Amino acid sequence: MEMDKKGKILVTGGAGFIGANFVKFLLRSEPRARIINFDALTYAGNIENLSDVLGDSRHEFVHGDIRDKAGVGAVFARGGIACVINFAAESHVDRSLDSPDSFVQTNVLGCLNLLEAARRHGVARFVQISTDEVYGSLLPGEAAFTEESPIRPNSPYSASKASADHLARAYHHSYGLDTVVTRCSNNYGPMQFPEKMIPLCINNAFNGRKIPVYGDGMQVRDWLHVEDHCSAVWEVCRKGRAGEVYNIGGACQTTNLDLVRAILRECGRDESLVSFVKDRPGHDRRYAMDFTKLNKETGWKPRHEFEKGLADTVKWYSSNKGWLEHVSSGEYKGYYEKMYSNR
Ligand code: NAD
Ligand code: DAU
Repeated sequence: MEMDKKGKILVTGGAGFIGANFVKFLLRSEPRARIINFDALTYAGNIENLSDVLGDSRHEFVHGDIRDKAGVGAVFARGGIACVINFAAESHVDRSLDSPDSFVQTNVLGCLNLLEAARRHGVARFVQISTDEVYGSLLPGEAAFTEESPIRPNSPYSASKASADHLARAYHHSYGLDTVVTRCSNNYGPMQFPEKMIPLCINNAFNGRKIPVYGDGMQVRDWLHVEDHCSAVWEVCRKGRAGEVYNIGGACQTTNLDLVRAILRECGRDESLVSFVKDRPGHDRRYAMDFTKLNKETGWKPRHEFEKGLADTVKWYSSNKGWLEHVSSGEYKGYYEKMYSNR
């Protein structure tokens, strides 16, 4: 797809972990990019993640909800949106087990609202950010997931993401909308909400608190630095073929227990902090991604080596203890309202 140089990029969910990293990546690497960042600021959205780019004239923050058809329509009606990159989602598997409803509302119906608005307004490209979890679980020794692997989601979260993938495919097939879907493995890096395993573990280790390890801790995840995810998404956005799916992975499979041990070492703590707790219901045993297709078509591969990336991540949380404290105490929730009321 030829990106319209004058067109804007609508990034949804750009105040969350990956979205905020992506907004910063794009502003750094594409001087001419102009971004509308559309985010509902749910518990996972944090305007503090964007503090260094809120004053950048190439980036406009819009407080809006993808579940709200009228609000979505109003942003598109302004005109000039060339491309949509949909990061907005309820993203935490454990929360989806407690309240699946909000996952369907945002991840399925919200995505539908965006696809429909993109179709009506003739958007040139729609990138749906999805996950390896739509493929379900692998056994030890089984080959990594390819784009041809069957879709077998096991949690309400992954089922809602799989539904959105199918909608993106259907909008291409039925209406000719230029959609591409990316499916990525587990991300780590700065600004990840500390309910997720890596920042939770770092935060607890800093404070000498126990690390809850689900089940036997032998589940395997394929970790990718968030900056590598951002560069992969941008490659797909510029070079991916319409209607296609692209896997993104870290080529870095590790068990949760080994991961926790590595973080504890990096934080100068010993293994006495490990606490085995009741397993997550339906817990997927192993994920692994084959990203040959993306590599062949764009040359992309992960640049961050895991040990160094993890050490840098621990350093980031250590140098940004204020960020962790604001999130842990809930103080971050009032930031946007405070900024808005001062205008
Ligand atoms: P996150 O939970 O950190 O951030 C989600 C963002 O979306 C937040 O800023 C939140 O305010 C916003 N949001 C939620 N509901 C919204 C709504 N209804 N309208 C507008 N904005 C809304 O999530 P993340 O970890 O950054 O994940 C981003 C995307 O990447 C998700 O689609 C997720 O499924 C996908 N993904 C995540 C990972 C990972 O390891 N974190 C891996 C693969 C794919
Ligand atoms: O694989 C991509 C997915 O990665 C994304 O689609 C999701 O949005 C993202 O949240 C993440 O899902 P996971 O469930 O894999 O991530 P989480 O950080 O919650 O857990 C990582 C592993 O650690 C998983 O096997 C569960 C385990 N875990 C997690 C927590 C929060 C624990 O053992 N203890 C914990 O307290």
